[in-house]
Amino acid sequence: MEQYIIKGGNPLVGEVEIGGAKNAALGILAASVMTSEPVIIENLPDVRDTAVLIQAMESVGTIVERIDRHTVRINAAGINGYTIDDGYIKKIRASYYMLGALLGRFNKAEVALPGGCNIGSRPIDQHLKGFRALGAKVEVSRGMIGASADNLTGSHIYMDVVTVGATINVMLAATLASGKTIIENAAKEPHVVDVANFLNSMGANIKGAGTDVIRIKGVEKLHGTTYSIIPDQIEAGTFMFAAAITKGDIMIKNVIPKHLESISAKLIEIGCQIEEFDDCLRVVATKRLSNTQVKTLPYPGFPTDMQPQIATTLALSEGTSIVTESIFENRFKYVGELQRMGANIKVEGNTAIIEGVDSFSGAGISAPDLRAGAALVLAALVADGISTIDDIKYIERGYEDFPEKLSALGAVMEKVETDRDIQKFKLKVG
Ligand code: UD1
Repeated sequence: MEQYIIKGGNPLVGEVEIGGAKNAALGILAASVMTSEPVIIENLPDVRDTAVLIQAMESVGTIVERIDRHTVRINAAGINGYTIDDGYIKKIRASYYMLGALLGRFNKAEVALPGGCNIGSRPIDQHLKGFRALGAKVEVSRGMIGASADNLTGSHIYMDVVTVGATINVMLAATLASGKTIIENAAKEPHVVDVANFLNSMGANIKGAGTDVIRIKGVEKLHGTTYSIIPDQIEAGTFMFAAAITKGDIMIKNVIPKHLESISAKLIEIGCQIEEFDDCLRVVATKRLSNTQVKTLPYPGFPTDMQPQIATTLALSEGTSIVTESIFENRFKYVGELQRMGANIKVEGNTAIIEGVDSFSGAGISAPDLRAGAALVLAALVADGISTIDDIKYIERGYEDFPEKLSALGAVMEKVETDRDIQKFKLKVG
């Protein structure tokens, strides 16, 4: 079984280059099947989630050619099916973007119903409501969602909750609907804007992405394009917390500082220094950090995908901190693992009450999901002694070369597979 093995204690110092945004990439890859002309996507992160979505696209006849590690050429002229089966949706929920993309282009699509996920119930009612408002007949039967229409027609849609997934999915379908669509209470995340910019570069007419009202004038067809994905806000944020928790000094390159404002603000509040440049950020921590209160919110609020990383950092900060999760109801599953390392955290409903402790001790722990897995890596980086982290497949869904990037900053860690690898690591680090 693949694991990370980490010897904690080194401050992380140096430079790290942030890759393309995974969550933008998933919307953009799906959107690329909406034209029969070739599309080139640059700055594509080489992570498991994008690889799975590419396989799902290939399963219906899309040709995806890798030009280099981070660039693909996509040709969806020969699409010969409209059904994305179970296997892909089980691996990544975002396969459901194929529903909006195929429905928009072909007026029909069928995708397996996303199953329960380990951070909460994650319903898809707003996606379905949006497709129905555009005139699609949507049926859920035998574990599949089928959507079809004679003609998609623009509509006025009010999202009952702020949802990234439904905003992007409905935007995809509405791009090729006839007439005008207005999405109100839309999600404003940077990746929503990036998907809209990508669609516009293919000839779509989308205005207002990044505000809570998105206006889409349907166009007849989309054309080919070359497009570079924005930097990953959450990968960048994770390295910002890596500097904070290890009392390090990291220059985080290839970021959009504006996308990181809520994260920077919290780090400054608890005692880090942040220097902002055009496309990089330097995070320095020289002393024990202090406590705070934080609540996750839709963008521009503090991201739910950064909740485990800040909670882990606060577990070693001075005093009592309160972390409230308002987006997903089951996102504290990593707390048990942190407790095994010595953290003092009590979870009550959607709130974690954290009493800062002086240190963590290394332990054998498991990643319960992607971002929590990254947070546990941060915990291990600062713990006394050696930790092993299982289930790293979750972490690899969204972080490219995570051990390599951390090691280049001074982390003592390796990806290992066998007991022998573990023994070798232990002998090496002493
Ligand atoms: C996306 C991100 C994920 C991030 C989340 C919130 C991708 C691939 N994933 O997930 O990393 O944590 O945004 O920023 O981009 N909801 C409904 N009905 C729906 C859809 C959502 O009630 O039809 C609820 C969800 O249960 C949740 C909230 O809306 O409470 C936000 O979910 P949403 O923004 O849709 O998350 P995802 O798109 O799944």
